[in-house]
Amino acid sequence: SKTRHFKWEVGYMYASPDCEEKILLGINGQFPGPTVRAKAGDTIHVELKNALHTEGVVIHWHGIRQYGTPWADGTASISQCAINPEETFIYRFQVDKAGTYFYHGHYGMQRAAGLYGSLIVEVADGEEELFHYDGEFNLLLSDWYHQSIYDQMVGLSSKPFRWIGEPQSLLINGRGQYNCSLAAHLMEGSSACKLTSKDCAPVVLRVLPGKTYRLRVASTTSLSSLNLAIGNHKMMVVEADGNYVEPFIVDDMDIYSGESYSVLITTDQNPSSNYWLSVGVRGRKPNTQPALAIVSYQPNSPSKLPESSPPVTPKWNDYNHSKSFSYKILARQGTPKPPSYADRQIALLNTQNKINGYIKWSINNISLALPPTPYLGSMRYRLKNAFDTSKPPENFPSDYDVMKPPKNPSSAQSSNAYVIQFNSTVDVILQNANALADNVSEIHPWHLHGHDFWVLGYGDGRFEEKDDSKFNLENPPLRNTVVIFPYGWTAIRFVADNPGVWAFHCHIEPHLHMGMGVIFAEGVDHVRRIPKEAITCGMTGKMLMNNNLP
Ligand code: C2O
Ligand code: CU
Repeated sequence: SKTRHFKWEVGYMYASPDCEEKILLGINGQFPGPTVRAKAGDTIHVELKNALHTEGVVIHWHGIRQYGTPWADGTASISQCAINPEETFIYRFQVDKAGTYFYHGHYGMQRAAGLYGSLIVEVADGEEELFHYDGEFNLLLSDWYHQSIYDQMVGLSSKPFRWIGEPQSLLINGRGQYNCSLAAHLMEGSSACKLTSKDCAPVVLRVLPGKTYRLRVASTTSLSSLNLAIGNHKMMVVEADGNYVEPFIVDDMDIYSGESYSVLITTDQNPSSNYWLSVGVRGRKPNTQPALAIVSYQPNSPSKLPESSPPVTPKWNDYNHSKSFSYKILARQGTPKPPSYADRQIALLNTQNKINGYIKWSINNISLALPPTPYLGSMRYRLKNAFDTSKPPENFPSDYDVMKPPKNPSSAQSSNAYVIQFNSTVDVILQNANALADNVSEIHPWHLHGHDFWVLGYGDGRFEEKDDSKFNLENPPLRNTVVIFPYGWTAIRFVADNPGVWAFHCHIEPHLHMGMGVIFAEGVDHVRRIPKEAITCGMTGKMLMNNNLP
């Protein structure tokens, strides 16, 4: 295995991802950031310079577990201090498992400003993939707002609340078209796009007839749940979040923020045509045009537009369609099985609440507020008063009606953390509920740092104790992100075998910003010496200063 070196500078730049010029966060003048490619077992070494004028930055390697390097997880206030302007921080970590991953900013809402890119880990030298393919394409999906993230953040934390609304466009590899369609000539009522910049030219997948291709698809959307389909072509799902799944075939696939998949397609259709790949919105009343890319059979011209209209996304609120896709995802034979029982069960109720009239998301009635000193340093060095040390609740009232808005919507903010016994097995029941408005319950994709977890099951309504008996312990898929459906629950199991402090949160950027997350700390005493550069702020910064006095 190799060490792969990268030298990156994060800065704002002008770009027109959907043909409208804005500023966004790029890396080395690129948007999306450069693709990192490595092989399983390699070490990634990124020298990251913050070239922003007045704000900090960090980068999280989504899906990489950071065994033995919890300070490289790239979460501001959790694993490290934000990197100051003009300063450089070195991320050095191993990628131990082949799969499709991505990286993104994890400070404020910087991800939504465009700070993301792909991270692809191929199988180690001498090993083979479990399936054959002739070529591969990488599709990083996102959504894009014309309003700056500063404007968004102020609105979300104002009274009265100002919601960010639906995104202006959906992007494929950072390219989309605002308020128009590439397929306008095939669809009534939509206007044709003027491609005013090369930044917004459609993505083209050039294929040869009669071959099999792997599409690596990841979603780093701020808000949107997505559905992807390719005209005339079926897809075989083979990987989810860096883990092999039992292959299954679909016409269209859902993908939530924080998830990644690999699908295989066979180019067995009429080769004289090109075909649309279409990405549309799920789970929220769409107000955003689908994003389109072109699958172009060689030697057709890539600019030859497909003759038939793009595949239509299933109805946004057809949750049965979404559930049936999620329920099909099962572990491929040979995937490690979960321990047969858990040492601890934590139930997390997801609700929308109010604190002094400000709208928040809360977990067991606590809205996450990150402390000034990152947990990893303050816990490792046992500093007092660095965060709220009260124990967060393991459960929620047994008479809580998940089908109704909260009876008492007043909530509290806290920085408290779940401290988990090292090497113990934990079940988490994610319980969805009604939000503040009547008859509203949203989709939330939950992402766990530092681990993969087994998805043991899903259900509608309130989780009951007897639901334990229906858990899938035979072939539950391993993932790092899983969705809870409206008014439903999802059960996961993980082994707390990775010393560090790990975020577990809804991957919807405005929801996390409004407090929708919790902190898990495990085996922090086993963490080796934390690089100084990760702890130069807050109380750990003071500690370093005092130790260094002559
Ligand atoms: Cu991809 Cu904590 O996030
Ligand atoms: Cu959410």
